[in-house]
Amino acid sequence: MSLQNHAPIPELYVSYDSAQKLKVEAAQLPSWDLTPRQICDLELLMNGGFHPLKGFMVQADYDGVVANMRLADGSLWPMPITLDVSEAFAEKVEPGQDIALRDQEGVILAILSISDKWSPDKAVEAAGVFGADDIAHPAVNYLHNVAGPVYLGGPVIGIQQPVHYDFKARRDTPNELRALFRKLGWRKIVAFQTRNPLHRAHQELTFRAAREAEANLLIHPVVGMTKPGDVDHFTRVRCYEAVLDKYPAQTTALSLLNLAMRMAGPREAVWHGLIRRNHGCTHMIVGRDHAGPGKNSQGKDFYDPYAAQELFGKHAAEIGVQMVDFKHMVYVQEKAQYFPANEIPEGSTVLDISGTELRRRLREGLDIPEWFSFPEVVSELRKTSPARSKQGFTVFFTGLSGSGKSTIANALMVKLMEMGGRPVTLLDGDVVRKHLSSELGFSKEHRDLNIKRIGYVASEITKNGGIAICAPIAPYTATRRAVREMIEAFGAFVEVHVATSLEECERRDRKGLYKLAREGKIKEFTGISDPYEAPTQAELVVDTENVDVDHCAHQVLLKLEQMGLIRA
Ligand code: PPS
Repeated sequence: MSLQNHAPIPELYVSYDSAQKLKVEAAQLPSWDLTPRQICDLELLMNGGFHPLKGFMVQADYDGVVANMRLADGSLWPMPITLDVSEAFAEKVEPGQDIALRDQEGVILAILSISDKWSPDKAVEAAGVFGADDIAHPAVNYLHNVAGPVYLGGPVIGIQQPVHYDFKARRDTPNELRALFRKLGWRKIVAFQTRNPLHRAHQELTFRAAREAEANLLIHPVVGMTKPGDVDHFTRVRCYEAVLDKYPAQTTALSLLNLAMRMAGPREAVWHGLIRRNHGCTHMIVGRDHAGPGKNSQGKDFYDPYAAQELFGKHAAEIGVQMVDFKHMVYVQEKAQYFPANEIPEGSTVLDISGTELRRRLREGLDIPEWFSFPEVVSELRKTSPARSKQGFTVFFTGLSGSGKSTIANALMVKLMEMGGRPVTLLDGDVVRKHLSSELGFSKEHRDLNIKRIGYVASEITKNGGIAICAPIAPYTATRRAVREMIEAFGAFVEVHVATSLEECERRDRKGLYKLAREGKIKEFTGISDPYEAPTQAELVVDTENVDVDHCAHQVLLKLEQMGLIRA
């Protein structure tokens, strides 16, 4: 008997010969360089992971998805899959035209036949899809501050898969997985979606889930884009490979999914279900707070922890995948065994380590017991997250011109160099403008570029274990946040607001610029004729009025010590 989940699923690729021909023709077309997230989306569109979508969404599908999770033809689809572009590019193309979609090295991956072009209402999209127009949500922040203002929709003709150089043998298209299940005779397959390293509790729960459903297990981690700050996928895959050996042979497979997550909780769970169905799975484990984005700007959870299970349960038949409840597993000391939290023998001692506690122990180089994780996993994690006092980090001063940023930054640099241990680089506002950004002025666009360049250099320094001290004005919240995300992928980001008031800066007027700005001789001057958005969540605020520089720099040092970044 042939099973539905073993049958091939439609892809958007043309044949090899047509692809060669199209590639030559497409070189003449206007072309769009895809962003990393668009590359992830395109890969799953082309290989059938996003079946039944046949391209980037047209407006009617998009409107239906945002409003009620349905495409224009009525089928269930919870997530907008849109091609966002810049205003400048949108002006050059019209519906009816074809464009080439290229990866970041310029390789043509696909052709998009544009049928719709529109400017979405992003606030409506945020509220509809993510439940709130609140930029504390990573995908809402992406929508407003990273995604372009215009969407292009239409069918996609697939020319070639995006190239991956890492873990090639561990990546499978939906049809490759379906063929594997067919070959192995696996009829029922439970998918486990994850963006975190697996520890013993995960191994127990996934194994139990498969056993309960009398099914095989597919560990299906996301390696495309996850939540900013997550453990990088290279480390995670090495950890997954180590855990794979702990399952009985023949029961479990590991495959990497190049998905760009949105952290949309309930809607994301439904989306994950559809994607797993397309990959030939029949069941999926849905946990508490599935794909949760963390806290909103009021400090509350975006979604009820069980909303994902509820929404999935409601649509399970239509998704075509059965939900398997995720059981919270805890370690019972007397039994030296894991138990579901609701089946603990009475009077026993329960041990558990939360994600936050694990990160603290890694950060501080403390013990992680064997009952909690596998030694191979812990050793991988320690390699990429050495104790904080051995990692690189960035101190990012922000404040008005003349607030004292450079002076404090210089004092801090000298103090850190005196302590030794890590190389220190100062990226001062004026110095950067001379060496890195000499062609830039002070428009919003140029300031953003300037800050992103500083962020890029600081993130490289942080990644390589050094200390970067930055001291630009950096007047915009969204840009500072983008820099924070760039750096937090590799180490700590310590934002220091040098909160000298405008009156005081103007009174000091060390460079005579405020006077010129007041006279209108310097345009777009921060604080006078251009905004400064003061940080609301800086790690430290220093007041320079009535306090000397040495004391300010010392306050920063104390903060670094408190955060475990330096050791006395
Ligand atoms: S930004 O907004 O972060 O890109 O600015 P930054 O690169 O830090 O600015 C460095 C110095 O440029 C001088 N300057 C101005 N500042 C603000 N607005 C305008 N229009 C302007 N024109 C020149 C100013 O002296 C900044 O020096 P600091 O070190 O902050 O005093």
